[in-house]
Amino acid sequence: MKCRICQHEIAPFMSFGRMPIANGFLTPEQFKDEYFFELNPAFCDRCLTFQLEEQPAPEAMFHDHYAFFSRTSKFMITHFQEYAEWVCDHHLTGDGAGLFVVEIGSNDGIMLENFAKHGIGHLGVEPSANVAEEARKYGVNTLVRFFNPDTAADIVTEYGQADALIAANVMCHIPDLNGIAKGAELLLKPNGVLIFEDPYLGAMIEKTSYDQIYDEHVFIFSALAVANIFAPYGFELIDLLPQHTHGGSMRYVLSRKGARPVTASVTEIMATEKSAGLHLPETYQKFRKNCEISKADLVSILKREKAAGRRVVGYGATSKSTTILNYCGIGPDLIEYISDTTPIKQHKFTPGMHIPVKPYQDFSENYPDTALLFAWNHQAEIMEKEKAFSAQGGKWIVHVPEVKVLG
Ligand code: SAH
Ligand code: TYD
Repeated sequence: MKCRICQHEIAPFMSFGRMPIANGFLTPEQFKDEYFFELNPAFCDRCLTFQLEEQPAPEAMFHDHYAFFSRTSKFMITHFQEYAEWVCDHHLTGDGAGLFVVEIGSNDGIMLENFAKHGIGHLGVEPSANVAEEARKYGVNTLVRFFNPDTAADIVTEYGQADALIAANVMCHIPDLNGIAKGAELLLKPNGVLIFEDPYLGAMIEKTSYDQIYDEHVFIFSALAVANIFAPYGFELIDLLPQHTHGGSMRYVLSRKGARPVTASVTEIMATEKSAGLHLPETYQKFRKNCEISKADLVSILKREKAAGRRVVGYGATSKSTTILNYCGIGPDLIEYISDTTPIKQHKFTPGMHIPVKPYQDFSENYPDTALLFAWNHQAEIMEKEKAFSAQGGKWIVHVPEVKVLG
């Protein structure tokens, strides 16, 4: 295969096997037509980008019945309020009325709502029409399109250039990142900033959180890779801010080369990445072995629970869980159902392994013996909410950073 960024010839370092669309929750009538692809991660030793060999077409993942609504986590609502405030305080100067901020992948308006509230000129670019519709309820102007150079050019014609192009948990979804860089070049004012955050490769390698790898995540970034991806388009990294969200993320800040000062964190974090070996192919061989260990441990705990006659349910029908369930071969025989608060996922079945997804009330009204925490990235929020489950003897299985039973 060719590297998606620099066209260097590379090869996958492992396979997670046949995978369905991670957010493709389905009804029994749809089982026979379910789409599958091979989930094969690869590492490019030239531009240092971690990527998938194959990804389903964007239109198969992002459409008018997209299942992920950002507002399902209260913690993320606060996070985006803080993110927006930080952008305003550190990267937007001048009077609110003259400013223009564009967000790629604005989903239900969780971030832009905070700009809209302060009367700051903004536009969300969001191809999934159902989540975009939700954003409009919060006063967020949204364009239902994929962001690419054509979209960027149309925005400039209609609204002019932007002060900031921001994003969260979407850059890593976009196969044509060169198109994003070209779009940013067109859209941003000469002193404009490109700011995005995504699940961080350093955290994934450290915690063996291989469930970050699924169809939507065609890339998992490091600072070393991001610097290489955007350099050909005249951008440089000027700041890096590690985040706790999604089990360990990184916020990347870029501007046109020489336009803004570069903070010390850029060289510091890149040096840390080199000490962790993120630039070396052997790191990914080690990661592959760790994934195999994690899989064996998880399956063995679930089989033990089953043999002991204990009821196990999943908590949070996350996209991430699709990789775990399909890679580990875990089906309804080991997990009775998965509880989730998102209405569009409820009363459907999980992609590939077809475990029923049930409303949260099914969990709270009839506790199982054990809950497998698929939404481990929201662990603090969920543990706080589920004190009563734990207090009456409920146990948790977590699989990150290693598989274990809590409680
Ligand atoms: N930013 C939100 C949503 C992340 S999910 C958050 O962090 O919670 C990713 C979102 O990006 C989805 O809503 C998806 O429809 C959208 N998306 C995917 N590809 C895109 C593209 N090329 N341009 C703009 N948005 C895109
Ligand atoms: P999340 O981990 O944010 O994302 P991803 O799909 O990218 O892996 O998904 C959280 C899922 O967990 C979402 O479907 C809502 C669900 N959820 C609950 O059911 N209860 C909760 O208390 C929380 C925080 C999330």
